[in-house]
Amino acid sequence: MASITIRNLDEAAKQALRERAAQNGRSMEEEARLLLGGINSDQTSTNYQRDKPISPTSYAPLNRMNTSDGETIAISKVNSKAFASKRILLIIGGGIAAYKCLDLIRRLRERGATVRPVMTKAAQEFVTPLSVSAIANDKVFSDLFDRDDEHDIGHIRLSREADLIVVAPATADLMAKMAQGHANDLASTVLMATDKPVLIAPAMNPAMWSHPATQRNLQTLQSDGIQFIGPNAGEMAESGEAGLGRMAEPMEIVHAIGHLLVPDDAPKPLAGKRAIITSGPTHEPIDPVRYIANRSSGKQGHAIAEALGRAGAEVILVSGPVELPDPQHAETFHVQTAREMQSAVEKALPADIAIMVAAVADWRSVTEADEKMKKENGKGPSSLKLTENPDILKGLGHHAKRPSLLIGFAAETQELEKHAKAKLKRKNADWIIANDVSPEGGVMGGDKNTVKRITSSGIESWPKMNKADVAERLVNEIISHFEVETLEV
Ligand SMILES: Cc1cc2nc3c(=O)[nH]c(=O)nc-3n(C[C@H](O)[C@H](O)[C@H](O)COP(=O)(O)O)c2cc1C
Repeated sequence: MASITIRNLDEAAKQALRERAAQNGRSMEEEARLLLGGINSDQTSTNYQRDKPISPTSYAPLNRMNTSDGETIAISKVNSKAFASKRILLIIGGGIAAYKCLDLIRRLRERGATVRPVMTKAAQEFVTPLSVSAIANDKVFSDLFDRDDEHDIGHIRLSREADLIVVAPATADLMAKMAQGHANDLASTVLMATDKPVLIAPAMNPAMWSHPATQRNLQTLQSDGIQFIGPNAGEMAESGEAGLGRMAEPMEIVHAIGHLLVPDDAPKPLAGKRAIITSGPTHEPIDPVRYIANRSSGKQGHAIAEALGRAGAEVILVSGPVELPDPQHAETFHVQTAREMQSAVEKALPADIAIMVAAVADWRSVTEADEKMKKENGKGPSSLKLTENPDILKGLGHHAKRPSLLIGFAAETQELEKHAKAKLKRKNADWIIANDVSPEGGVMGGDKNTVKRITSSGIESWPKMNKADVAERLVNEIISHFEVETLEV
């Protein structure tokens, strides 16, 4: 897909686009997307920055587009068409996270889906039907006994005219109703009447989420075939509360939807390839209660594992301790320390692709105390003697079974390019994906990433993207790498 950033257009072009959009009753973004739809779908984005020319062999044709706020999203070769003309029925429940549904609707529509909103009575206390309707460009449905809509049994029509039903936020109450088969308002009746896949994004206070009743309902719904995204761990709207219960971010929901919309016969360009991914931090024990760790969340590595799996690769994910569900399309091994991670990676060899995303601790304590180390009155802290951990990426780079495509992530806080280039050589890797993890960037633990891809031929700067989009784009590059390799053979 070709792309433009509307705010980068000159005033005359913007005005022409504005007029054309107004004439056709569309937003500027929609109009631009439709215009671009006519252009060669494999054309490379105009905002693709290149610090140094990359050789044609490492050049990857990419599908990506710019959203209304200038952010760039990568569209997977696998599911780039997943959203086009798809009809999503979005049921909005009555929780604080209901405000996020406006962003969710916008992002789905930017990708070419139509969104028909259903709001529960409680949802309308949190976000107005007027805002939802304006963003969705459709009427909000909320009344089961609406005389205009129900003359032809509208609730059945609503449930059947969708390709997918999404419930976001899914309240504890909605989950309970679904699990029990209640049908006493429009949302629950539509959910009972549907024959389409249902994806739900729960959002509630951690105590409500961990309540045995909700957990029972979760199990029932899972065995009924309902798909889940989240909830995530984090801070709650209620001050001072934190835990599992935050609704998944809109982009995470978009990716889950994209996956559900991909037909079973979608192309699997990485079928037959085996990939090993590491993700998250490592924990290096000092004594039974203390350890050395870092702020890595595992979001980037897990997103890459999921995207590779969706592209058809056989994926082995070796994950450090993270608060994330295992990706659907990977076999996940859980480890704590760098040494355990290295051993799991070695056991998973041979592989065609290895991507070392984990933030492996460089050092560990020389000794691990059997008992909790005690503070001794009057004495200062005892010094910790450290020793180096194994270098997993370097080990793979010089391994007899070196994967044919070896990719390392470099997290730097200064002189990013210089350090990443040195790492490429030292570790005998093919690509280094370098990200600046200075605290002000919010990369560690956050949802976005700004990376540079460093190869022996040059450096590409990728724009700031959601981590799931970085994953899609990286997978697109990997697909192209193997396509080129096949052509060269
Ligand atoms: C301020 C406020 C915030 C609420 N937030 C949530 C929430 O995040 N998740 C939830 O399950 N219920 C939440 N509730 C309770 C629901 O609104 C309540 O259970 C309601 O009946 C849900 O209706 P629905 O499932 O039909 O949308 C909240 C209630 C209030 C007053």
